[in-house]
Amino acid sequence: MLNLILFGPPGSGKGTQSEKLIAKYGLKHLSTGDILRSEIAQKTPLGLEAKNIMDKGQLVPDEVVIGMISCALETNPGAKGFLFDGFPRTSAQAEALDKLLELKGVSINRMLAMEVSEEELVNRLLKRGETSGRPDDNNEGVIRARIAEYHNKTAAVAEYYQKFDKVVRVKGEGGVDEIFQSLCNEIDAVMQV
Ligand code: AP5
Ligand code: MG
Repeated sequence: MLNLILFGPPGSGKGTQSEKLIAKYGLKHLSTGDILRSEIAQKTPLGLEAKNIMDKGQLVPDEVVIGMISCALETNPGAKGFLFDGFPRTSAQAEALDKLLELKGVSINRMLAMEVSEEELVNRLLKRGETSGRPDDNNEGVIRARIAEYHNKTAAVAEYYQKFDKVVRVKGEGGVDEIFQSLCNEIDAVMQV
């Protein structure tokens, strides 16, 4: 089983690259942001609770997203592996994920961390906000709040996996295909071990 975390700040290209990676490696894509937006679209109680928090650019409580991931792991017992996108985002989430995977007798093989400058992140998200309809993209203050949450709470997750020597850093600026190739090179190297 191949279990990967695609890591990076808001707008670093996690969703864009995930689509290409799951097609190539046959992994199940688990994006907590996508699951939360689907809950909002269906107006579930969880979605209604999460919406106010997401619209401000803040993180949804750990227990909510950990519960979502636990459920997704249980409902995909035959998966060849998982690609985690936007999760884990706090040290508590990382510890919970490791425990959930341990119960299945597996672990995270690699964290692929995409690095993009803050100026590029803001430009990408403002541009997408012109058409996406995502409330957290159409206001520079909210975009900067998301980036601040990343620095304050999420960056530490890379340090957590660094302790286990599981992190590789990849340049997340340039063409989408060029970045995809760098990610594939890293994944292919893990698969040969
Ligand atoms: P989430 O949905 O995870 O959003 P995010 O991480 O803030 O950022 P994005 O998904 O917008 O960016 P991305 O890295 O996927 O980049 P993308 O490929 O889209 O989370 C949203 C919210 O949900 C959070 O703020 C939080 O409230 C909540 N949440 C989610 N998970 C949570 C968790 N685990 N715990 C707590 N709360 C959680 O690309 C962005 C744009 O750039 C696109 O327009 C794309 O076309 C463009 N682009 C991509 N690659 C390139 C390139 N190489 N060059 C130029 N443009 C590019
Ligand atoms: Mg995304």
